[in-house]
Amino acid sequence: MVWPSRCHTPTTMTAEGKDAQRVIIAVDGPAASGKSTTAREVARRLRFLHLESGAFYRAITFALLADGVPEATWEGLRPEELDRFRIRGARGEHNGVQISVGDQTVDQELRTQEVNDHVSHVARIPAVRTWLLQRLRDLAGREDVVSDGRDIGTVVFPDADVKVFLVADPEVRARRRLAERDIHQPDRDTLLQEIGRLLERDRIDSEREVAPLKKAVDAVKVDTTSLTFDEQVDAILELARGRLAAGRA
Ligand code: DC
Repeated sequence: MVWPSRCHTPTTMTAEGKDAQRVIIAVDGPAASGKSTTAREVARRLRFLHLESGAFYRAITFALLADGVPEATWEGLRPEELDRFRIRGARGEHNGVQISVGDQTVDQELRTQEVNDHVSHVARIPAVRTWLLQRLRDLAGREDVVSDGRDIGTVVFPDADVKVFLVADPEVRARRRLAERDIHQPDRDTLLQEIGRLLERDRIDSEREVAPLKKAVDAVKVDTTSLTFDEQVDAILELARGRLAAGRA
């Protein structure tokens, strides 16, 4: 299914301040629930911009680590101090956003074990969230967007047209995460260790005070435990089609 690109002028605002002309699809869920890959494909099919918010938390983590800022001082960071890392997002290939830190474009650098191990800490720092919130909204501009993260439907785009909350069994999530690192038949210890890491990240993401991971009341929960990738994508496209058709009626 492909929707034609939408015309954004003249702009009409909803009561909540969202540009009524554009469409926002919010995909939230815990680590390794399949949010980003699914959101990317949904965006590709619809020709929407894919805005992966987790990548920005990773970029900030990468910048802090690369710059050697002591972890003990992260909590006290002020939003203005993050400017010096020159973290930018620009429209990249395949409807995505290419992130750069200073003069370096970053991609694989955001997926290292070191970044994985520190990103939940960075994501619960209020200054980081304040700094990023406006940037995510600015990046989305007035485009049609599929955005994924933990607080997209609750905080970043509370007026999103379609809200999806993806969940999956922890073992399935751990296997997916390991497969990303080319570990396809993990031994029991490796699997248990990965499940432990994921559950710890879920705990930190859900229990933090600022913008915790939680399902928006109006989000639709989709359990991807026994869905194939194509089925996940279709489930979201189906929901989007239904919601948007209802909205236009
Ligand atoms: O989806 P991910 O694993 O790339 O997310 C990286 C971290 O960023 C994870 O600890 C949760 C956090 N995050 C967040 O707090 N809010 C978002 N909207 C997206 C990610």
